[in-house]
Amino acid sequence: MTNKTLINRIGIFTSGGDAPGMNAAIRAVVRACIFYGKEAVGIYRGYDGMIGGDIVELNSRSVSNIIQRGGTILKSARSKDFMTAEGRKTAFENLVKHNVDALVAIGGDGTFRGAQLFSEEFGIPVVGLPGTIDNDLNGTDFTIGYDTAVNTATVAIDKVRDTASSHNRLFFIEVMGRNSGQIAMLSSIASGAEATMIPEHPMDIDELVKMLENGAGRKKSSSLVVIAEGGNPGHSIDIAREVNERFSHYDTKVTILGHLQRGGSPTVADRVLASRLGVVAVESLLANKSEVMVGIVNNEIKFTPFGKATKDVNNFNEEMFRIAAILSV
Ligand code: F6P
Repeated sequence: MTNKTLINRIGIFTSGGDAPGMNAAIRAVVRACIFYGKEAVGIYRGYDGMIGGDIVELNSRSVSNIIQRGGTILKSARSKDFMTAEGRKTAFENLVKHNVDALVAIGGDGTFRGAQLFSEEFGIPVVGLPGTIDNDLNGTDFTIGYDTAVNTATVAIDKVRDTASSHNRLFFIEVMGRNSGQIAMLSSIASGAEATMIPEHPMDIDELVKMLENGAGRKKSSSLVVIAEGGNPGHSIDIAREVNERFSHYDTKVTILGHLQRGGSPTVADRVLASRLGVVAVESLLANKSEVMVGIVNNEIKFTPFGKATKDVNNFNEEMFRIAAILSV
């Protein structure tokens, strides 16, 4: 967790699925480097760019006008080559060639697992920033991109509600989140959906049909069910078919929100989170920290070892589930 390397030049990269706010994090890391008299380089396409030597110098102006932009100016990838010892060796040789002394890795669990291994193998200090729309890491209340994704999903669900109520329809709306129901839970509460299907609290079709029947009995003219993809994108179509076979009160439709949840201008919350974390990432490397993710818990900076941030993630807020159940009567 600590390193003794003298750090002059810090490499920054984004890896895994892109998330709104990654640019704000890149900007913060570069500007903090400059503030502390250090150099910053950007590594394109995550670990793939490290292996390919796709590394460029960044200065204060390189990161102008990006805080408001979605995506990542450094591009991102899920690297297969970095999983091989040979790939990691080539990546390290490229970092040495470019005089990179330390790294800031912005991404999710796959990014941190790679970073942990890399740091152990080659002794290079790495600090991570949680960048994923899924909010599926221990050691931070929120990941960079989650707030924007939830807002984007909510705006989309609101629009679906307009058409659902105009036609007396039942809509199943599938949202992202890989194995996590966090986007589904919050967007469901925020849009006043009738039911939420999430991996953290599996609901069977009987239970769902009963809820929908009760709603129809209370004269609901339309209903929305938010479904977390739960590692099985597209399964909302099967759920809709099964429900429709047993409950045909409404005309049934499915909307899969998909990758639109990953794009767009980051919210204020994501921009500020990314800015705070980016500065602390540089400060913590200069204070000899390594193999930790920087997060914020209860508005305070918290460092979590990579292994702990990604293992047995249990940051689901049960209170939200309770609230949703009360409000869906
Ligand atoms: O991890 C972010 C995420 O958007 C997940 O919610 C989703 O399951 C996955 O990435 C999709 O990955 P890809 O863009 O590679 O299809």
